[in-house]
Amino acid sequence: MTVGSLLILPGDGIGPEVMDEVCRIIEWFEKKLKIQLDTKFDLVGGSAYDKYGTPLADTTLKIANEVDAILLGAVGGPKYDNLEFSLKPERGLLKLRKELDLYSNLRPAQCFDALSDYSSLKPNIISGLDIMIVRELSSGSYFGEPRGIEINKKSGERYAINTTYYSESEIERVAISAFEIAKKRNKKVCSMEKANVMEVGVLWREVVQKIKDKNYPEIELSHMYADAGAMQLVRWPKQFDVIVTDNLFGDLLSDCAAMLTGSLGMLPSASLGNKNANGKLKAMYEPVHGSAPDISGKGLANPIACILSFSMALKYTFDLKKEAELLDKSVERVLSKGIRTADLLQKENQKPSSTKEVCDEILVELNQQLKEG
Ligand code: IPM
Ligand code: MN
Repeated sequence: MTVGSLLILPGDGIGPEVMDEVCRIIEWFEKKLKIQLDTKFDLVGGSAYDKYGTPLADTTLKIANEVDAILLGAVGGPKYDNLEFSLKPERGLLKLRKELDLYSNLRPAQCFDALSDYSSLKPNIISGLDIMIVRELSSGSYFGEPRGIEINKKSGERYAINTTYYSESEIERVAISAFEIAKKRNKKVCSMEKANVMEVGVLWREVVQKIKDKNYPEIELSHMYADAGAMQLVRWPKQFDVIVTDNLFGDLLSDCAAMLTGSLGMLPSASLGNKNANGKLKAMYEPVHGSAPDISGKGLANPIACILSFSMALKYTFDLKKEAELLDKSVERVLSKGIRTADLLQKENQKPSSTKEVCDEILVELNQQLKEG
């Protein structure tokens, strides 16, 4: 049965190589479970610039608007460092987020048991960790106007401006998204901003509290300044269940939370928007890691973050929760067998598995679970 359509945008750097492995997982689901996905491929970021002269072609954006979900690898690389700002690979990704109005970015930070001594923090601080960062993704400092680099006419000195803008409705919708997620988890939300310094933070705090008071009596809501939140994330991360925060703070806090779990190569994400014509939420799935140009093309990249991003697509877009669990479980089993890419190696004499070998093992475990029934 065809469960829906998926646009695959491998992007740059390690994006294409981790996406190759996801494609083998998709084939497995088609062959073994008869779950048919209507997949399309296109370019984004530097690879799109090389071919189309722009990091996101209009034709690609059109397809992105029509499919049920997008799976993106990574964008960026030193080759594009000197391009004009509007042509940089990252602009392609940001345009997708903005045009599809993907305002709620879910970044789970979960610690797999097998990796509890890989974190730079002590095992008892991170073992069993399971938090969800909900990052606002379509507004704030990333998109606010005015912005730019200008010249002061009097002094001749250059200056730069970015604007942190949030409307009430933008705060409301991401808060609702966080509360709905918390309802299905441990019913705790911590909202992070800088209300002590920024008006945006004052409004953010007020609006999040208002939504909670009105519609979510069962949720325990707390507020924290984002700098204190960063400190608490490394001090005692298990105090958190769901964290909701703005675009820029969310970028920083989610890298920090990801690294608590041992490696950035493990963490998936889902970016969700409003419902489209077919009643599904607009959605893009991508690993939290970047394009890692230093290791690209060497078979060293960890494919797990991208594979788990596909698992999130199964769960959130295609409503295939059991199948997503099957995939998550296979990843967990591979890790507990001690199979690891280089980013997760601890002992000097341990030989890392390649990107492809890790995926081979995940496929072995998928087959094994089918046998077990
Ligand atoms: C992320 C990335 C992006 C961001 C970059 C690549 C534009 O760091 O998804 O966290 O800053 O949002
Ligand atoms: Mn980031």
